[in-house]
Amino acid sequence: MEQPRRPSRDQPLQVDVWIIDLDAVRDTDDALRADVAPADILYATKAAAPLLGRRRLAGRAVLRRILSRFQHEQPSMLTIESGPFGKPRLVRLNSPPLAFNMTRSRNMAAVAVAKCDSLGIDLEHEAGPVADFASSILSRDERAAWAALPSSQRDVAVYRAWVRKEALLKGLGCGLTQAPDQIEVPLLPARLCRPNSWPSELAVDGWQLADLSVRAGIVGSLAFRAPNLNLCITYMTEVDLAHENIALSGRT
Ligand SMILES: CC(C)(COP(=O)(O)OP(=O)(O)OC[C@H]1O[C@@H](n2cnc3c(N)ncnc32)[C@H](O)[C@@H]1OP(=O)(O)O)[C@@H](O)C(=O)NCCC(=O)NCCS
Repeated sequence: MEQPRRPSRDQPLQVDVWIIDLDAVRDTDDALRADVAPADILYATKAAAPLLGRRRLAGRAVLRRILSRFQHEQPSMLTIESGPFGKPRLVRLNSPPLAFNMTRSRNMAAVAVAKCDSLGIDLEHEAGPVADFASSILSRDERAAWAALPSSQRDVAVYRAWVRKEALLKGLGCGLTQAPDQIEVPLLPARLCRPNSWPSELAVDGWQLADLSVRAGIVGSLAFRAPNLNLCITYMTEVDLAHENIALSGRT
């Protein structure tokens, strides 16, 4: 049986982050369907357009193929349950918990997996001016800090705040049932940071945020709750899904 990997406070938490271009997944739809559950196929068929359905299907297949590397079962045989607000959880009998979370933004997906309590991840493509977006997701104090930034930094700062807040809300499992402007986060880049403030009903104590390196024009954040004060992210890209040949692109 797999031994628990309970890191001490001194050891960095190891998080594997797969960054996947869903449009570059070469498998046929039939090959993808063979690796998912019936509910995943239904979810894909309900998408508003064929390309979006294909991305949903590829995303669910990629997620199951990644998790099967940890669980040593066929991807389609894994039991994934949803929490009260839809957060997926891998059911593992006689094994230590395995936290995971995934995100999709257009063609790009990211999946994070670690042996810790909980994870949240979010990616967003930066797209155009953001003044309205800023007023809906930033708190009053954050808006004041944002307005004081040099204009060249403002657009990306809003996306950075957004992915940090959404990663955190996904880590907690409540998603956007909680308004993002209730949580305050730093606006500037940081390898690791913590939220600045949050409503008392949210259990945000002990959570940290890490900026993700994805590609130009995409911002990403990982939220994690673990006893560790530090973490090591291993980035995985270029997944040859059919042959489980995963290339390591770098560490941070
Ligand atoms: C969680 C949430 C912010 C994700 O929004 P999104 O625009 O789809 O964002 P992302 O692409 O980053 O994440 C999607 C993935 O997050 C995961 N996810 C879904 N709900 C989640 C939740 N509550 N917490 C954490 N992760 C969640 C799934 O793996 C999902 O992948 P899928 O599309 O293949 O199912 C949004 O769905 C939400 O606020 N959900 C809670 C409220 C709600 O609508 N619940 C309805 C179902 S009970």
